Amino acid sequence: MVKKLLSALSGEANAIPPIWLMRQAGRYLPEYRALRAKAPNFIQFCLNPELAAEVTLQPVRRFGLDGAILFADILLIPHALGQSVAFVENEGPKLEPIRNVAALAELSDARATEILSPVMQTIKNVHAALPAGATLIGFAGAPWTVATYMIEGHGGTDFDNCRRMAWTEPKLFDALMDKLVAATSSYLIAQADAGAEALQIFDTWAGAAPAPLFDRAVIAPTAKIVRAVKAKYPKLPIIGFPRASASHLAHYVKETGVDGIGIDQTTDLSWARDTLPAKVTLQGNLDPALLLAGGEAMEREARAILATMKGRPYIFNLGHGVLQPTPPDHIARLVEIVRRG
Ligand code: CP3
Repeated sequence: MVKKLLSALSGEANAIPPIWLMRQAGRYLPEYRALRAKAPNFIQFCLNPELAAEVTLQPVRRFGLDGAILFADILLIPHALGQSVAFVENEGPKLEPIRNVAALAELSDARATEILSPVMQTIKNVHAALPAGATLIGFAGAPWTVATYMIEGHGGTDFDNCRRMAWTEPKLFDALMDKLVAATSSYLIAQADAGAEALQIFDTWAGAAPAPLFDRAVIAPTAKIVRAVKAKYPKLPIIGFPRASASHLAHYVKETGVDGIGIDQTTDLSWARDTLPAKVTLQGNLDPALLLAGGEAMEREARAILATMKGRPYIFNLGHGVLQPTPPDHIARLVEIVRRG
């Protein structure tokens, strides 16, 4: 049986599109919260192959989704490179910021493979228990988005330090990007070695990159990673998600060579359908706030998306991750609408 998500990524239009949701594993699920309570340290939780595999599978079992996204975090890469990363309750990630050559020099990939090896075991565990028809999706953060956390030291900023470094200290910035390209390429190749069947590169903050720097900050590093993965796995599909960067999307698709592209909710889906090359598979676009709201508005908009993408290769997904207060029943209803109209 050809898996639906893989057939969509190979350019086939399924009468019923495959569906998975970004951040489908997480605190909105009571069964996630129960396991999370056993591992107060979030990094250790991600690096526990039994717990991480179980959490990966929870939403796939509960909702019958077509994709199982590996449970991990984009900030495991800075952690593996030796930067101090902590997840503080109700505050989000906190990192020791990297703003100069000395701090950059302290990053080392010497132990990265070993530190990240539990993630590969998680992939093997998920593989062994994956429901038939579901596709195992590996992922990493794109260098720009990961660098925003590494340079700022936390989320919820306007990335002033990051943008200033990219403009005024190009050597330092490019050296950081190069380290991230190398570490992320090895990490994604290791995920494919372990059994990941598709990969997604999350560039959540791509839209914050100044337009003149977009090539250097977003496109070139992503293109290098795609090339490195495809050198070993030419047929492994890769989905790019440069969030909130509509004006760069066509260029991004052309230059990076991704097979699929995530469309956030600020981007017009029919515009993307008519503007981007037909060979790239579109994914996403439903506003996570509609999934949170549920009811008539969610149902109407989900059907509108299905109508817009009828006859085209498409993967149903949100424009960004599931919001924490989302009632799980809304996801069950969404899956029903996608499958039964
Ligand atoms: O999609 C999935 O279900 C797979 C797992 C996944 C997580 N993070 C689990 C997680 C994925 C794909 C990510 C990606 C990620 N992590 C991104 C890119 C996508 C996006 O959502 O924008 C980013 C920017 C991060 C960094 C990060 N990790 C942030 C900003 C936070 C929130 C901090 C907080 O305390 O809420 C996290 C933590 C995180 N990653 C959680 C989960 C389930 C919540 C942690 C918890 O259980 O306490």
